[in-house]
Amino acid sequence: MRKKVRIAIFPVAGLGTRFLPATKSMPKEMLTIVDKPLIQYAVDEAREAGIEHFVFVTGRNKGVIEDHFDRHFELETTLLERGKTKEFKELQRDLPQPGQTSFTRQQEPLGLGHAVWCARDIVGDEPFALLLPDMLIKAEPGVLSQMMYAYEKNGGNIIAVEEVAKENISSYGVVGRASGTDEAFIINEMVEKPAPEKAPSNLIISGRYILQPHIFDLLSSHKRGAGGEIQITDAMQKLMREQDFTGVKFKGRTFDCGTKLGFLAANIAYALDREQLREKLQKEIANLLNYRL
Ligand code: G1P
Repeated sequence: MRKKVRIAIFPVAGLGTRFLPATKSMPKEMLTIVDKPLIQYAVDEAREAGIEHFVFVTGRNKGVIEDHFDRHFELETTLLERGKTKEFKELQRDLPQPGQTSFTRQQEPLGLGHAVWCARDIVGDEPFALLLPDMLIKAEPGVLSQMMYAYEKNGGNIIAVEEVAKENISSYGVVGRASGTDEAFIINEMVEKPAPEKAPSNLIISGRYILQPHIFDLLSSHKRGAGGEIQITDAMQKLMREQDFTGVKFKGRTFDCGTKLGFLAANIAYALDREQLREKLQKEIANLLNYRL
């Protein structure tokens, strides 16, 4: 029997400099896609995949994320008084159960690997999922659920990957692919943000991982990598010498909401999915495309 993946880490300490001034006093993870903050999509994806405990690695100015996952009695009472039971129920549905969340802080911006390492005591000696909320992935079932199938079959470490155009490759971690199928193949190399000519393939790491806890020991060396930061990819490359890494080319569409273009496209895509918005939005887009000031 595989050890069940119960815990997910959400690194949410980033400064969000690409979205200033919006993110001066508001965390980038609270930017909305239609009417839900980005972080809620990641938590929903994790819950759908069977995750029972949600660990947020936060930083200064991120207090509202903790508030978002708490009850709001005044709001709830007002909604009920006004007969807005649908909105009330939706708020209840989005909430983790009492005791299912943990918050810890990454005190210095030393990189993704360091953020993950900050959660080591909370996670303990268990396999865990790691979801980067910036990478919003529209998929059914969600990407983490797709990865759980591969985990149940193969165990070890699982990485979600997808193809990107060569000119974008150096913004991501890139894997080398050995034998296997798209649903589960052996990864034989990992490089963080390589130059296009040095990339082992066009398959990038899409911000979803299932990792074994030994990664924490490797991260504790605090070795700096690409961009002078402590990189999770470097620790995974080391762990690969001892444990299997399986790549899953998931079915779904990614919106890199760390970029303005990805964020805007996500808003349109998710809005087009809403029955009440779809037709009117299509007309609005058509109008805008012909509009000149
Ligand atoms: C991180 C990871 C990278 C991954 C990317 C996905 O990079 O280090 O391997 O491909 O997320 O978004 P970051 O976007 O934090 O620079």
